[in-house]
Amino acid sequence: MKNLLSLESLTKDEIYTVLELADTMKATRARPAHLPLAGQCWALIFSKSSTRTRVSFEVGIRELGGSVMFLSATDIQLGRGEPIKDTARVMGRMIDGAVIRTYLQSDVEVFAQFSGIPTINALTDDEHPCQILADLQTIREKFGALEGRKVCFIGDGACNVARSWIWAAARLDFELRIAAPLGYQPDAEILSAAGRTGHISVFEDVQEAVRGVDVLYTDVWVSMGKEEESAQRLLAMVPYQINDALVKLAAPQAIVMHCLPAYRGKEITADTFEAHASTLFDQAENRLHAQKAVLQIIARRD
Ligand code: CP
Ligand code: NVA
Repeated sequence: MKNLLSLESLTKDEIYTVLELADTMKATRARPAHLPLAGQCWALIFSKSSTRTRVSFEVGIRELGGSVMFLSATDIQLGRGEPIKDTARVMGRMIDGAVIRTYLQSDVEVFAQFSGIPTINALTDDEHPCQILADLQTIREKFGALEGRKVCFIGDGACNVARSWIWAAARLDFELRIAAPLGYQPDAEILSAAGRTGHISVFEDVQEAVRGVDVLYTDVWVSMGKEEESAQRLLAMVPYQINDALVKLAAPQAIVMHCLPAYRGKEITADTFEAHASTLFDQAENRLHAQKAVLQIIARRD
């Protein structure tokens, strides 16, 4: 594994290698065995807002012995139109790795290709692989294993987080249900590429979708970059709110997850959020451990 550009590009073995190492990172955080990024300088290049991703990468890179610079895309020449492939060729000669949050999936791919340095997708319009790796770590912690679990993603079934969940389910042995209104369901193309009919299913009826599931998962109804569609999205997704009544339809020990930030009264109620806060913030913390695992795996060793 040289880069982490998508969940789609990972094999089952690669995902499990990250998850095992993520657990080790968490268990040994106070006494790390070694510093794989010692002497390295990494850059975070972000075109969209972030709290968790930015903080967890900045802390994680430092904890692994590296130094890090945060570059807002609007502050560098990229924001004034310098091509991504030129930015990549400059940075490839100076830094040891890059973490990129942007719009187009092709931008992280072009950056990786032209820079030649380890590159991590920190969220694009298509995928959020770091999030789902941390989520898988969290589900393993809560249930002991992923195998046989039922996860229901509720809300915008066409968003980046939902798409990365589809690729995770395509590779691993858990069942994924997506409950989303018409117009916000995953593309047939992705579902067909992911395969696993019966293992990944799409529902319009959210009550039916959550019956007996182990995990109810949601994300914002208006992803970054979709703000102009806010009014129609908020209207279409009203029936897809996670609230106490919906949680009661799931398995008795079901957990509630959210990649955060959460909008109370929209995709989740304040009461349900607070009742599941312990899981939600374990999930957020695991971003640090899962990403440290990725960093150690893909870091240059020369
Ligand atoms: N979940 C997530 O990626 O959060 P941020 O947008 O705060 O980084
Ligand atoms: N789908 C959301 C995820 C935020 C972490 C977005 O892209 O804004």
